Amino acid sequence: MLEGKHIILGVTAGIAAYKSTLLVREFVRAGAHVQVVMTPAAAQFVTPLTFATLSRREVILDMFPPPDQPATQWTKHIELALWGDAMVIAPATANTIAKIVCGMADNFLTSLVLALRCPLLVAPSMDVDMYRNDVTQQNIARLRERGITVIEPEAGELASGLVGPGRLPEPPAIVDAVRDVLAGVRSDLQDRRILVTAGPTHEPIDPVRFIGNRSSGKMGFALAAAAARRGATVTLIAGPVVLPTPPRVRRIDVVTAREMHDAVLREFDGTEVLIMAAAVADFAPSSVAAEKIKREKVAGGIWTIDCVTNPDILRSLGERKTHQIMIGFALETSDELAHARQKLTGKRLDLIVMNNPKVPGAGFGSDTNVVTLLSADGAAVEIPRKAKADVANDILDRVVRLLGASV
Ligand code: PMT
Repeated sequence: MLEGKHIILGVTAGIAAYKSTLLVREFVRAGAHVQVVMTPAAAQFVTPLTFATLSRREVILDMFPPPDQPATQWTKHIELALWGDAMVIAPATANTIAKIVCGMADNFLTSLVLALRCPLLVAPSMDVDMYRNDVTQQNIARLRERGITVIEPEAGELASGLVGPGRLPEPPAIVDAVRDVLAGVRSDLQDRRILVTAGPTHEPIDPVRFIGNRSSGKMGFALAAAAARRGATVTLIAGPVVLPTPPRVRRIDVVTAREMHDAVLREFDGTEVLIMAAAVADFAPSSVAAEKIKREKVAGGIWTIDCVTNPDILRSLGERKTHQIMIGFALETSDELAHARQKLTGKRLDLIVMNNPKVPGAGFGSDTNVVTLLSADGAAVEIPRKAKADVANDILDRVVRLLGASV
């Protein structure tokens, strides 16, 4: 989605400007061309040289050239406005937001915004009281009324030491918001109740060891984040992973397959759509040793662990489902389609997402996936390698259609 796209990154004078340097890297890694535009005051926080080095382009700071430099064309802001496929201002201060609302053009960035033809996203970031101030809230509401996408700040500890909303979201969340805008994604899952599972499960052997797998949680977290951005009420049941909770997502952490089973079961009745992206361990040790198992105590150099099968979460819910739409994943390395189809029917699913970890860029850990979507009517649609955020949106497009068909 971002490959070859022209992204204008506006940086204004907030402490979170340091995070925008990482944002440039994320865009560049995704194949986009990035033009950074800073307000003069933003240069008090991060030097233009840092952004120029990361974006490999000269940063635009001033409307007018310095007195000792030759005058350049006056229409630069207009040309850049035509060049951009999307512009995102991150961080956006209360001051710049107010100027945009009033239509002011007193620096290069605000002049550019007035001339812009492409979509604009604004990520407000400031201290909690400035953010909660009535004027700021009214201004943000007016941005939305004008069709500008507002990327909501996160709540947490702020630079002042105060706690509350105002933190700039992490760069991947901002990149995903730009992706959605470019893909024309709308709030088509407004208030739909979606339950997503993500990550591995760990089955303890003793106090220090476990049986697990290589799932990072990225696929499931991308689904939860994308569903929340599309307006859904999302609960994410996460195995042991180190990923931050996506904005506006309720998260329940679990460790073992049995804990995941119990958590999914508790949430299932109030759910409209279940998406099981978790890599649930099929086996768990039949007993957990109270103390660390010592190698000296293992006879003959061979250690055998007796295992029992874990509950098959999807299968047990397939038997109990009433109105729910159920989507599973299939992780297959051979005879992929046949195995995935067996799971689709055996677990009474509406859709299964097949991926093969042997395919480059697919499966565990990577930021991309390569999947085939298999529907209950037998249709199979191959989706070439894409960012997991984009795969998530493709799956959610199917969810929208399935929800439409079920009313
Ligand atoms: O987390 P990442 O690093 O981003 O990697 C993503 C992923 C590879 C983990 C993901 O894309 C994926 O394929 N998830 C499903 C992995 C898996 O367990 O596949 P399976 O074919 O073994 O299981 C089929 C389905 O049954 C899955 O939806 C699974 O969640 C579910 N299941 C499996 C076992 C079990 N005991 N209960 C279940 O409900």
